[in-house]
Amino acid sequence: MKIIHLSDTHVGRNNNGSSNAELVDLIIEDILSLENPSDYLVVHTGDLIDKGNQQYRDLGSSLLAKLSDQGVRVLLCPGNHDCGDAMHVDPNLAAQFKAQFAPYIFGSQATQFPVLNIIDDCAFIGLDSNQAEMSWLDRWLAKGNLGDAQITALSKLLDLPEVRDKVVVLYLHHHPFFDAFVVSADVGDGHLLSHLFSWNTRRFRRLKDAYTLMQCIRDRVDIVLFGHQHFGLDYSAEAQRYGIPTALDASSSTCTEMDTDRMRYRIIDTDSGFITTRFVAFPPGHVQA
Ligand SMILES: [Fe+2]
Ligand SMILES: [Fe+2]
Repeated sequence: MKIIHLSDTHVGRNNNGSSNAELVDLIIEDILSLENPSDYLVVHTGDLIDKGNQQYRDLGSSLLAKLSDQGVRVLLCPGNHDCGDAMHVDPNLAAQFKAQFAPYIFGSQATQFPVLNIIDDCAFIGLDSNQAEMSWLDRWLAKGNLGDAQITALSKLLDLPEVRDKVVVLYLHHHPFFDAFVVSADVGDGHLLSHLFSWNTRRFRRLKDAYTLMQCIRDRVDIVLFGHQHFGLDYSAEAQRYGIPTALDASSSTCTEMDTDRMRYRIIDTDSGFITTRFVAFPPGHVQA
């Protein structure tokens, strides 16, 4: 299986004159120019759009259709921005997003999480990390919360015989690891205030029930894909402590808020029996105004 991991495209946002919709278009063109693009499956781990409104949903929908119209299968899970904005999620906006993007989120299955798709040698399981974050207090800061019911259902799925003999790929929006790096990848080295901001907000940006999730999936999942923090780092070393070989943060595929960064997407290949990963990076010109 060849998987392309995209995340946090924030369609609708414009930075320095760049439109994220145009940048996603460039990524899609690049994917469609790969040899046999329909051999690839795209997993988008949420924040497809920058804000939960109809205009952005329509824009995001037309972009994903460019892939699916060419036979590239797309799996999607909702991010906080898809269901609200940076600071909170809204139950009504979440329902509207899930309804409009149901073909990518649920396919022909019941509209509930976890979602299971067995495709070739892989069992893809999608989670909604906003699901338990709908109480008025909890949804502030939008750090993500799966909830006990979803994790219990996930555990049952992982026990299914048809899942156990596959490469199990778990995908969700929010970040399940906490301080799993020593370099502040989001702020650079520049300014004391940046460090203070980073240290004081990072703990709010990790999935609230990450510990419970890890207890559930340890030694039972092969690949964990997520986004939200826009770092683009490989967390496999941290995940291997839980018997999970590969864990990847996609970064923001459009990367427009960091002028030192560049647009990219990751290809994960399981065809050899081993999991290999590589980034396809775009020239820096693609993120300039
Ligand atoms: Fe994001
Ligand atoms: Fe997010």
